[in-house]
Amino acid sequence: MKTIFLSGGCGYIGSHTCVELIEAGYQVIVYDNLSNSKEIAMERVKQITGVRPIFIRGDILDAVNLEKVFQNYKIDAVIHFAGLKAVGESVSKPLEYYHNNITGTLLLLQIMRKYNVFDFVFSSSATVYGTPSVLPITEQAPTGNTTNPYGTSKLYIEQILKDLYKSDPRFHITILRYFNPIGAHPSGLIGENPNGIPNNLLPYITQTAIGIREYVGVFGKDYDTPDGTGVRDYIHVCDLARGHILALNHKKAGVEIYNLGTGKGYSVLEVLHSMEKACGHSIPYKIMPRRSGDIASCYCDPTKAKRELGFEAEYEMDQMCEHAWNWQKKNPNGY
Ligand code: NAD
Ligand code: UFG
Repeated sequence: MKTIFLSGGCGYIGSHTCVELIEAGYQVIVYDNLSNSKEIAMERVKQITGVRPIFIRGDILDAVNLEKVFQNYKIDAVIHFAGLKAVGESVSKPLEYYHNNITGTLLLLQIMRKYNVFDFVFSSSATVYGTPSVLPITEQAPTGNTTNPYGTSKLYIEQILKDLYKSDPRFHITILRYFNPIGAHPSGLIGENPNGIPNNLLPYITQTAIGIREYVGVFGKDYDTPDGTGVRDYIHVCDLARGHILALNHKKAGVEIYNLGTGKGYSVLEVLHSMEKACGHSIPYKIMPRRSGDIASCYCDPTKAKRELGFEAEYEMDQMCEHAWNWQKKNPNGY
């Protein structure tokens, strides 16, 4: 049985990936400092799969503690989710974001090399494309012009990974550029658990639907899109999680980059109306000014992931909303 080390595996995408990994027959070690997650997610993974991942509370910045894990277990591959991800906060705390995301990655890679672990899957983001000049976005599209330290940290880490491979071709690195992960496991046992007021659209909508928030602020209705609101490529988090298993199984040397999205764009109002269908009532919203740093449209060309990994998203928007709503209803205040 192969053993996979998941940094940040207690979080939103990590916990869903735990489920997929366990169901695919892997042993999972989760290493998380719980700065943005709760350990109860591990219990919920057990409720779904019958297996509780090995959980170690620790910080990737704590090299001594991190190294102990590599001493104690024979690790076959690493999926690196750990990172700070709040775009707005990264603007006011650039040093904290660069330190956590970049230094943390460097320490993890150094320890991997020391213990001869060379399989690495990295959580990157569509944000590295900046403002795309051509849609849909292929992996060949130019990167750069990121508008915040969070996005820039992803861009720098991608460069570090390319340089590392050049220096040491034993590494097998997969960079997954996620588009907009939403939804929750169909059981409603695990899902997105934002701290405080959500920054992202979906949790804001579900919290409004359940009555925690008064209305959804729709950021801009004057974009060059069919209904004037922002268009994104939303992907079900379970589909995204499955993409990681395919990436682990794909044995191609080098640094490979894949977009993980559906290739379809949905506007803010389309998502809102889909959630209305899921929850069975209307959801109040107000048109607000544009949010600074936002782009009009962002959706990917998913062809490369399909061709090389056999990856194809299965869930449609209505199901993504049904599952997000199911999670919200069963866990009105999160975990
Ligand atoms: P999340 O915050 O739910 O999960 C990240 C986990 O990492 C959390 O459990 C947190 O406690 C942990 N963590 C953070 N810093 C750590 C540290 N120094 N040491 C140990 N653990 C640490 O976020 P998520 O949505 O699951 O995202 C996972 C990864 O995917 C992140 O790297 C994120 O940047 C990336 N990503 C997310 C999205 C998205 O929209 N959710 C989009 C693109 C990329
Ligand atoms: N939006 C609203 N109201 C809200 C929140 C968002 O109208 O309350 C709109 C935004 O303007 C945008 C769309 O909904 O048009 C999606 O916004 P999100 O904040 O949910 O997602 P983003 O596309 O801005 O960014 C997300 C992650 C980033 C990641 C990026 C690409 O937050 O970390 O997807 O993967 F980099």
